[in-house]
Amino acid sequence: MEIYLYPFQNISLLLVITTTICLFHVRKSSTADDDRYLNCSASFQCVNFRDVHYPFWGSSRPDYCGYPDFKLNCNGDTPVISSDGQDYRVLDINQSTSTLRVARTDFWSNVCPVSLANTTIKSSRVKNTSDVQEVLLFYDCPPLNILLPIQPTSQFNCSINSIATSVNYFVTNLGLLNISGNYKTTVIASISQSAAANLVLNSSKDNLVAALDSGFRLKWDASNTLCDQC
Ligand SMILES: *[C@@H]1O[C@H](CO)[C@@H](O)[C@H](O)[C@H]1NC(C)=O
Ligand SMILES: *[C@@H]1O[C@H](CO)[C@@H](O)[C@H](O)[C@H]1NC(C)=O
Ligand SMILES: *[C@@H]1O[C@H](CO)[C@@H](O)[C@H](O)[C@H]1NC(C)=O
Ligand SMILES: *[C@@H]1O[C@H](CO)[C@@H](O)[C@H](O)[C@H]1NC(C)=O
Ligand SMILES: *[C@@H]1O[C@H](CO)[C@@H](O)[C@H](O)[C@H]1NC(C)=O
Ligand SMILES: *[C@@H]1O[C@H](CO)[C@@H](O)[C@H](O)[C@H]1NC(C)=O
Ligand SMILES: *[C@@H]1O[C@H](CO)[C@@H](O)[C@H](O)[C@H]1NC(C)=O
Repeated sequence: MEIYLYPFQNISLLLVITTTICLFHVRKSSTADDDRYLNCSASFQCVNFRDVHYPFWGSSRPDYCGYPDFKLNCNGDTPVISSDGQDYRVLDINQSTSTLRVARTDFWSNVCPVSLANTTIKSSRVKNTSDVQEVLLFYDCPPLNILLPIQPTSQFNCSINSIATSVNYFVTNLGLLNISGNYKTTVIASISQSAAANLVLNSSKDNLVAALDSGFRLKWDASNTLCDQC
């Protein structure tokens, strides 16, 4: 026996099927969104930092809860954030002012690292706060010839790969203009203004280490567009 459907019946059946598929699909994707919303609305803990939330993610918190630049590595003794291939220890996070204070891991308690690099935070979502001050370090050089009315230069010695290296440094925000000398490597690092003021008064090697360890404050873009979409 042949099963014969009227064209009308055929269309109804199709409609029922499509509606069911549609409903199921919408329902499924909205529960996934709800899960995501729930997962992101909760704050997370990263090492000793409790109550960390947007725009940060990492550890158990999925990447869709924040921006790619704000991934925290929570495996060490302090949260670490990376930018431009360089790691920074996160010293504090202030969610209400949208700021974080960071210090270079390679210069942590050590101003004579084997590999020398500048502080370069490359993120369109992060800016220096007005509190950031530059410190210039000149590795492997005799006294510098500086033609600017800037803070007096200070000198200390390093042993890098068992090679004695003399380092000159000073605090300035004028960049590298008008600095001439026979140095091999320049490092531009960031410190806070209060640490810089202290360094100017007492420019010992220990104080430079302390200035770099106390870090500098960055402000993140507070536009919560991603968050508002939830
Ligand atoms: C939400 O988090 C839980 C536990 O971490 C995880 O199993 C689940 O897959 C997450 N949901 C989504 C939509 O990512
Ligand atoms: C965040 O900064 C504000 C303003 O400077 C300050 O009052 C507050 O105590 C800070 N919060 C934390 C957790 O440090
Ligand atoms: C740091 O930046 C300055 C200026 O751009 C550059 O001359 C110097 O070579 C850089 N230092 C390192 C270690 O890359
Ligand atoms: C912050 O200042 C440092 C040193 O002046 C500079 O190298 C860096 O590019 C600045 N970072 C941002 C995000 O503006
Ligand atoms: C660095 O080493 C040189 C050569 O050994 C020495 O003359 C100088 O006094 C040292 N500087 C400091 C700050 O210790
Ligand atoms: C650099 O030095 C030259 C000549 O000594 C001077 O004319 C110029 O203003 C200096 N530049 C800055 C930025 O101070
Ligand atoms: C300078 O700093 C060093 C090391 O932190 C400290 O021992 C010394 O007492 C300070 N000197 C002055 C005059 O503050």
